[in-house]
Amino acid sequence: MSSKKRVLSGIQPTADSFQIGNYLGALKQWVQLQDTHDTFYSIVDLHAITGEHDPKVLHQRTLLAFAQVIAAGVDPEKSTLFVQSQVPEHAQLAWVLGCQTGFGEASRMTQFKDKSKKGGMDRTSVGLFTYPILQAADILLYQADQVPVGEDQRQHLELTRDLAIRFNNNFTKTFTVPEPYIVKESAKILDLQDPTAKMSKSLPAGCVFLLDDEQIIMKKFKSAVTDSDREIKFDTELKPGVSNLLSIISLVSGADISELESEFSSKGYGDLKQRAGELVIESVARPFKSKVDELMKDKAQLNKLMNQGAQKAKQVAGETLRTVYQNLGFVS
Ligand code: TYM
Repeated sequence: MSSKKRVLSGIQPTADSFQIGNYLGALKQWVQLQDTHDTFYSIVDLHAITGEHDPKVLHQRTLLAFAQVIAAGVDPEKSTLFVQSQVPEHAQLAWVLGCQTGFGEASRMTQFKDKSKKGGMDRTSVGLFTYPILQAADILLYQADQVPVGEDQRQHLELTRDLAIRFNNNFTKTFTVPEPYIVKESAKILDLQDPTAKMSKSLPAGCVFLLDDEQIIMKKFKSAVTDSDREIKFDTELKPGVSNLLSIISLVSGADISELESEFSSKGYGDLKQRAGELVIESVARPFKSKVDELMKDKAQLNKLMNQGAQKAKQVAGETLRTVYQNLGFVS
């Protein structure tokens, strides 16, 4: 067995394109970690059916998500990259963990509370309610030490840790208790139209999708909401919009925020927006899109990589599930 620490993370195939929040908050870390860690990354399609969905669209988005993770720099030879529904152990462990989760505990998940409030209880599926338990199964099946995610996933990781500790205490020690791996600077990329909210595909006006046309990306940056002041300064409380643009520029270019503040001291908000747009297009979106287009031309190769990833994932997941079943007292 490898002595490297184990990493697992996942991304939903619920849009036609990843957005820069996914890229800066998660995928960049996925790519960096694959050189030093034993990395498992999943396209979590089981998580993508908690609301209504069109099967054809989900199928296409799953292929596209797989291609996008590779285009972002995840190497399927270095990392185990797989589609969640191709590894049935995820659903199997989710049932077991559901039986360890309190109803009240699951009811306190803020993402569930927000989404169910918007949709109304009658239109909210039980799958949305148990979503975080499936996420815990994703992580615990691989005995992950670290889970690279954005800030919005912190509460789900707390639940995962609680479930691992509870199972280990109630039965035999079975699971590694995972740590969140959240990089402060990129943990929460903000919406360009409402810089008090997280950038999210559900608010498309302020969300920059990497596969959008370049003109659309530029337009979104140019119309980013800032403030009525003129000073370009990093201050997340008083200047969330300006700070968000500075963060994006810093994360993409590698320049320090303080360097950027002095560089932009004699410039205006228009220059800042223009620079952010240009950088995202030239350094991220353009090469990303061309790689995705190339990968999507060869579906046979994508399918081959998916099968290969699922086989590798199943070896680890199967071993954990066998131990779990044994420790629960199931007859083998
Ligand atoms: P998902 O598909 O919504 O997002 C994928 C990753 O992108 C991060 N992210 C952001 N980071 C910074 N700023 C933003 N504005 C932003 N928007 C999204 C997310 O934090 C996430 O890391 N429940 C998960 C998927 C999942 C998972 C897992 C993650 C299922 N099983 C196991 C880790 C481990 C989700 O919905 O991510």
